[in-house]
Amino acid sequence: MKPQNIYIGFTTIILFLFSCRQGSEKELPVMNSIQLENSILSLTKEATNLNVPWDLQYDRINDAILFSEIGGAIRRLDIKSKQVLLIDSIPDVYQQRTLGLLGMALYQPENEQAYLYLSYTSKKDSSIFSNLYRYNYNPTGRLSNPVQLLQIPGNTGHNGSRIVISPDKKVYWATGDAATDTYAQDSTSLNGKILRLNLDGSIPKDNPIANSYVYAWGFRNMQGLTYSTEGILYTSEHGDAIEDEINLILPLKNYGWPLVEGTVDTDEEKAKVKSLAIEEPIKSWTPVIAPAGIAYYGSDAIPEWKNSLLLTTLKNQSLRVLTLSDDGRDIIGEQILFQNILGRLRSVVTLPNGDIYFCSSNRDWNPQKGFPTQEDDVIYRLRISDKAYAPILHAQIPQTQPEAKDGQALYEAYCTSCHKSDGEGLTNTFPPLANSKTVNGEEKALLQIVLHGMQGKTIESIKYEGVMPGFSFLTDAEIITITNYIRINFGNHASEIKSTSLKSLR
Ligand code: HEC
Repeated sequence: MKPQNIYIGFTTIILFLFSCRQGSEKELPVMNSIQLENSILSLTKEATNLNVPWDLQYDRINDAILFSEIGGAIRRLDIKSKQVLLIDSIPDVYQQRTLGLLGMALYQPENEQAYLYLSYTSKKDSSIFSNLYRYNYNPTGRLSNPVQLLQIPGNTGHNGSRIVISPDKKVYWATGDAATDTYAQDSTSLNGKILRLNLDGSIPKDNPIANSYVYAWGFRNMQGLTYSTEGILYTSEHGDAIEDEINLILPLKNYGWPLVEGTVDTDEEKAKVKSLAIEEPIKSWTPVIAPAGIAYYGSDAIPEWKNSLLLTTLKNQSLRVLTLSDDGRDIIGEQILFQNILGRLRSVVTLPNGDIYFCSSNRDWNPQKGFPTQEDDVIYRLRISDKAYAPILHAQIPQTQPEAKDGQALYEAYCTSCHKSDGEGLTNTFPPLANSKTVNGEEKALLQIVLHGMQGKTIESIKYEGVMPGFSFLTDAEIITITNYIRINFGNHASEIKSTSLKSLR
């Protein structure tokens, strides 16, 4: 071969290698198009067969989606090739029900060491903990140099949590109240709080309370945290049987739990908080929807969604678009996508180019009817598109409250997430209402349970792990309608309850 040919051959090889690395994006089939007012979006499945992806982050150096799975794996989805790579497995994660590897935040500055912050539950002897760790994040290869920044009490539920890093290089950690009523209002406890740390885990000098991580308090179990490009911090949070919330976080504010649920609107709540200044949510939902991850959308790519919060929901199985006011202080509109189509949705992230990635959570502890599918769990992508593919979906606006006389609608709104549409419950977690002695039994005892809830009882020699919240916030007519609905459905044949006054039971 002449030297010239060798040279050409060599260049071809280099060009070939180069095009493999930088190559154009692999296109996947579009599942649906979403028609907004003017724009069309396409929905694609970017990764399948995952196991409860919990948090999604954008890795700008690798152009990839970095994600945690609840069992302890950290994986990376390459945006162009769609390949999923296992980066590392966190050794001491304790996974059970809602516990495990949860929120994370990727800090990736120019020309400095990148860090990955992780929040996860661990167990030592019989004690459960929530941990905040920092790892060195290497663009290639595994995580290294783990540093435990904080360890706080955990529990079998309510461990939060999410992490976010602000442009001024502060780490915000949203912690759960560890199902302990005294923590959230105690400013010396780190549970039920927004905590603020320096990148190395030390306490920032300008924190609102000197020598304390505590930035804001009065939280139950936050599941979403995002920092807007306008510099506003938002959370999403699970209420008990009522009042799921979106909060706008300000230093030193008290968000009320467990004294107040949602806004301070009942006489009991007003009496409890008296002179305390309680910061109320900017949005709340009853019946609850189980809000999870949130991400601020500030891109021009989808003009209809610019300046909104994207919210994934578990119980409601939807992606919601919450339109913000110009100053970001109010939610002025709400639209619902994919309800009951993709199952439970856990986390969402927006990319600098305006693409949106979000994931399902159908292999978690509380799968809904028809899920998981063979391909679950899935990471989906929403992207602006110039053509429409059938079937075309439209965003919906939220429905009004179910009517007091519609037993099925009330049951779906308040009971299905635990006892399921068919009344069969979930093995060892939620008891069946089908053929239940209590449901078919004495009226007062049954109404008492629906009004005030129960926990820790043994039913037909099974001890259930879940907690039954009380529904005393419903009207008498609603309580009677739901109770009658469960007495004559799922194969139950009990007599109808006629009396409409529950005063003596309230
Ligand atoms: C967050 C989950 C959850 C929701 C929502 C929920 N329940 Fe329950 N329910 C439970 C759990 C857990 C138990 C068992 C508690 C125990 O073992 O002490 C239970 C027990 C019951 C029982 C007693 C069953 C028996 O056989 O003894 C009845 C009746 C009941 N629920 C009705 C309802 C109705 C009606 C609704 C809706 C208005 C509802 N529940 C909503 C979790 C839930």
